[in-house]
Amino acid sequence: MNERRIGIVMNGVTGRMGLRQHLERSIVAIREQGGILAADGSTVIMPEPILVGRNEDKLKRIAAKYNLNRWTTNLSEALAEPDVEIYFDSQLTQLREKGVRAAVEAGKAVYCEKPIAEGLDAAVELARLVRDSGLKNGVVQDKLSLPGLRKLKRLVDGGFFGQILSVRGEFGYWVFEGDWQEAQRPAWNYKQEEGGGIVVDMFCHWRYVLDQIFAPVKSVYCQGATHIPTRYDEQGNRYDATAEDAAYGIFELEGGIVAQLNSSWTTRVFRDELVEFQVDGTEGSAVAGLRNCRVQHRSATPKPVWNPDLPVTEPFRDQWLDVPDNEVFDNGFKVQWEMFLRHIVDDAPFGWDFVEGAKGVQLAELGLQSWREGRKLDVPDLEIGGVA
Ligand SMILES: NC(=O)c1ccc[n+]([C@@H]2O[C@H](COP(=O)([O-])OP(=O)(O)OC[C@H]3O[C@@H](n4cnc5c(N)ncnc54)[C@H](O)[C@@H]3O)[C@@H](O)[C@H]2O)c1
Repeated sequence: MNERRIGIVMNGVTGRMGLRQHLERSIVAIREQGGILAADGSTVIMPEPILVGRNEDKLKRIAAKYNLNRWTTNLSEALAEPDVEIYFDSQLTQLREKGVRAAVEAGKAVYCEKPIAEGLDAAVELARLVRDSGLKNGVVQDKLSLPGLRKLKRLVDGGFFGQILSVRGEFGYWVFEGDWQEAQRPAWNYKQEEGGGIVVDMFCHWRYVLDQIFAPVKSVYCQGATHIPTRYDEQGNRYDATAEDAAYGIFELEGGIVAQLNSSWTTRVFRDELVEFQVDGTEGSAVAGLRNCRVQHRSATPKPVWNPDLPVTEPFRDQWLDVPDNEVFDNGFKVQWEMFLRHIVDDAPFGWDFVEGAKGVQLAELGLQSWREGRKLDVPDLEIGGVA
């Protein structure tokens, strides 16, 4: 077996997503499984991470934990390493643009967390820059690789639903305020001035989930709310929440599908999973979460009659059928890393580029505008401009 090593500058690995999902569950996991097989069947693709961050001690500790020996606090130094082919960014959203620009300047392929930028203008500019550079690029769209959503996509592709009528999604859980119990999300999420807010965070996901599983998003109406006005940061200091912690969105999709998606860090879970979608179609319905998916066909649909004087007559939840896995599902972030590595080495297709990433930012920006103006807004085709 030949080995094809690929140097990857990983910026932001001290953060929640960078450390757990991208380094540990993806890159380290790929290394531990012995790399991935390239298209020629005789070459192993082996990622070689170089950790980049602000804090030497943290980087040292992380490197030691995962048996890695390359780390630095100097991004340009890392980008100048001769074996580096990919720049990966999971820093604070606000810092992404600078990192990506440096990587493009250095001629590296770029892969990064969503959102690619805080605002649409910056996202479009970045998408244009990356595209015109001719460098390979990609944005994390992890929800598409979740087992529950993969099963949902399988149902859509197999024609299970007939005509899809509506999608109803609930995402969320209670994020502690940080005083009597530590908050489980970083404080910047609740500060608009630091790129926080649940609209920017979640609408990027909703865009690709709706576009790619159901149909293109045509309009958005969003009502946001900052339900908890003060919180406590990582140091225990009280701060004003300047960004919304809940967003109630209605989206019209091509073909007349209506999607309602609630995103909230201020709700307590009375669901089976932290995110759940119910899809209703003329031929059947499905309820999908992160992992599971259940269906009810029209032939097995009960006929409840509304009578508030009687107790519930049927065990509604028991009337659904589990959709089997039928395949082994790996971690979604890892699956996408493997695809991106194959894109680099074998030129295998990778559909989630910066233009797709910019569409997510577009929906978030329109969502915020819709909330500010109190009206529904169309989602126009995204013009990236420049040289195609
Ligand atoms: N795909 C997903 O499901 C998903 C989920 C959560 C977050 N994200 C995205 O991942 C990115 C990181 O989010 P996170 O939750 O890991 O955040 P985090 O606060 O845990 O990590 C932020 C990272 O940025 C670095 N950083 C550099 N300069 C900084 C500064 N001045 N202040 C604070 N941090 C600084 C930190 O060291 C850290 O490595 C964000 O862009 C976010 O939108 C994606």
